[in-house]
Amino acid sequence: MVSVGHVPVLIDEVVTMLAPTPGSLQIDGTVGAGGHAERILEATDPDGRLLGLDADGAAIARVRDRLSPRFGDRLRLRQANFRDLARIAPSEGFGAVDGCFLDLGLSSHQLADTDRGFGFRAGGPLDMRFDVTRGVPAAELLASLDAQALAALFRRYGEEPFAGRIARAIVEARTAASVRTAEELAGLIERVVPSRAPGRRRVHPATRVFQALRIAVNEELEALSDGLTGALDLLRPGGRLAVLSYHSLEDRIVKRFFQAERRGCVCPPEAPVCVCGRSPRLRLVTPRGVVPGEEELAVNPRARSARLRVAERLAA
Ligand SMILES: C[S@@+](CC[C@H](N)C(=O)[O-])C[C@H]1O[C@@H](n2cnc3c(N)ncnc32)[C@H](O)[C@@H]1O
Repeated sequence: MVSVGHVPVLIDEVVTMLAPTPGSLQIDGTVGAGGHAERILEATDPDGRLLGLDADGAAIARVRDRLSPRFGDRLRLRQANFRDLARIAPSEGFGAVDGCFLDLGLSSHQLADTDRGFGFRAGGPLDMRFDVTRGVPAAELLASLDAQALAALFRRYGEEPFAGRIARAIVEARTAASVRTAEELAGLIERVVPSRAPGRRRVHPATRVFQALRIAVNEELEALSDGLTGALDLLRPGGRLAVLSYHSLEDRIVKRFFQAERRGCVCPPEAPVCVCGRSPRLRLVTPRGVVPGEEELAVNPRARSARLRVAERLAA
């Protein structure tokens, strides 16, 4: 495995808008390499505490080695999926918190690990699970779904315009041998997708299919919806929820969740009076979201598609 560092995205903006104060309780639901967690803990000096979760046991082990000697019991770490936040946080003493942060997707460590199958050049098995102890590896999906189901998956989670063509090529290739590695899958897509297709010049032709498989394997969109609901329930009035997303499917879920909780009432527009009785639970801190500036993009191209949305819990 190549050793790489993970550069945290929009780090100053995250810390400024999450506004962690000394003594506060914070949750980082995607602790990754611990870059954001470290800065959040520093901002809560000397006695604030942070609960860090990650579905990936290797990430938790790495952060424990790097940060636990410095922060001691102010940092609590658990290998867990943030979709279970509402159950896990109270059991760790984080039942009511001042801030919650989610930095979606994968880290540079995962991308560079050739045994995990996240990167196009990974020669190892096409796995793509954040938590390798649960669920079905991507190679198994490719070996078992029919062409129609594969195409639907590539369209739904990758918005891939050549979904049908790629799906048929995978099923055809299976008659000789199934696609087992990321490298094989990327090579197959390179062969079937026209290299001069519009919009294809700047990104690798397999980008959308890889995104789709990763989302499906990790049930990422369902986890995000559950995680947002759980996080909001844990926030104290005045507490903040900050979410960094990297593609439009994720961002849409965050945006709609924030909008719905800002509005409160879910009665149909034609109802003369409110009968649902729901009050707004969030105030938007970043109505349009925040994106990285040129300076950050110059040093960290991975930040290219990032958007940060932050909202504050109201008393309701
Ligand atoms: C972009 S990285 C986080 C990087 C981190 N903010 C840092 O500064 O190092 C995303 C991390 O979230 C984890 N992850 C993704 N989905 C998750 C989920 N549903 N529950 C828990 N962890 C998840 C991944 O394993 C990965 O380590």
